[in-house]
Amino acid sequence: MPSNIILIGFMGSGKSSIGRRIASLNGFRFTDTDDLVVEKAGMPITEIFSKYGEEHFRDLETEVLQGLESSTGIVLATGGGLALREQNRPLLKRVGRVVWLDAAPDTLFERVSRNNRRPLLQTDNPRETFDTLLAFRNSIYEALCDIRIDSTTLNHERTAHAVLDSLAKIEE
Ligand code: S3P
Repeated sequence: MPSNIILIGFMGSGKSSIGRRIASLNGFRFTDTDDLVVEKAGMPITEIFSKYGEEHFRDLETEVLQGLESSTGIVLATGGGLALREQNRPLLKRVGRVVWLDAAPDTLFERVSRNNRRPLLQTDNPRETFDTLLAFRNSIYEALCDIRIDSTTLNHERTAHAVLDSLAKIEE
């Protein structure tokens, strides 16, 4: 098993729920960059975006990631845009094995449409925004990941097991 497990992927890919499940299966501690950013800023993500803008949010993300560099035994769920900053990518690779949680676009869109907590999708045409972001980001996730797990047809439990099984194979 690697020293840490990092989950990357688009909004709605289930990084937090599946990350929690993985942590309870392998005894790691679960942590989430979105939660750490919210804690650091003392306000919800929507408010960070509306008051200070996306760049400030990205700065906070980088800071919390840097703060995790010497951690061990964690499952880290990352915000869907964290891998976009080039400076974050080698850091993610140093911290642990990088797992891309993926799902079919319609599945992801259906999941993110359940609430309005994602400021980037609060546009006149959320589906168009979603498609544009997804097309751009998928190649970044793909280049960065050690493994990719498609959760379209799997529940959280089975996805968590699929992640651990695949990681065990590449660690052999
Ligand atoms: C973002 C994803 C969100 C959160 C913020 C920005 C993104 O996290 O970090 O709203 O740029 O994709 P989730 O991927 O957990 O939804």
